[in-house]
Amino acid sequence: MSEVSAEPVPLPPPAHVAIIMDGNGRWAKARGLPRVAGHQRGVDALRGVVEAGQEMRIDYLTLYAFSSENWKRPPREVDDLMGLLRLYLRRELRELHRNGVRIRFIGEWWKLAADIVKLIADAEETTASNTGLTLIIAVNYGSHREIVQASKRIAAAVADGTMKLEDIDEANFARHLHTDGIPDPDLVIRTSGEQRLSNFLLWQAGYAELVFMDVLWPDFNKQSLQQAVDEFHQRERRYGASSG
Ligand code: IPE
Ligand code: IPE
Ligand code: MG
Repeated sequence: MSEVSAEPVPLPPPAHVAIIMDGNGRWAKARGLPRVAGHQRGVDALRGVVEAGQEMRIDYLTLYAFSSENWKRPPREVDDLMGLLRLYLRRELRELHRNGVRIRFIGEWWKLAADIVKLIADAEETTASNTGLTLIIAVNYGSHREIVQASKRIAAAVADGTMKLEDIDEANFARHLHTDGIPDPDLVIRTSGEQRLSNFLLWQAGYAELVFMDVLWPDFNKQSLQQAVDEFHQRERRYGASSG
């Protein structure tokens, strides 16, 4: 007779985890460093989380890197953030591709500097048929704008007769969002202790579990991600039904 293992079967990870990476500035300030130092350490944390996502067999990982409102920051800081995005794409693409990561961008990334647009298009194209983790980076992203644009495209389709008014429903509305083809996030994490969504995935996160953590983004590591996933597993997702 074979022995019965006492090991609990690990719960499957959430298929789609989305993260609002917040707190770089406070991390730097606490150390008397310039904000850019916090953003640099933030990229290190991002690298670690992408690795952890692969290890944990998460299917989709979305990272909020730059919002449509972040243009309000001083030009110098915006330049620093764009510079880091450029560097990340230049340095990491090969390794991500080797690991089978599929890269996608959401947000109006085509409005960024021409060389960044090229790097993004290249990253998406190079990795398009990879079957590992799908890494979705939100840059120049804002839900309000995304939803307005979807509405405009649908209105235009109705106006020119290619779509009927009565055919508009949740599913085909969602197909006009930047996240077309990506399942809704199961878990949305925000670091730094702030408890708001800051215009992130407002439609898509309608039934996501929200986990707010006090850790500042540069300090976020594999354990932090595991902690958030453990918290997710404690939740009962009811989608409006009675509790079981
Ligand atoms: C997150 O850190 C990075 C971006 C929003 C680009 P912050 O820069 O917002 O850090 P805090 O919130 O000022 O600490
Ligand atoms: C949200 O963080 C945007 C990103 C993490 C990219 P912010 O720091 O910009 O959000 P607010 O200003 O605190 O709402
Ligand atoms: Mg912030």
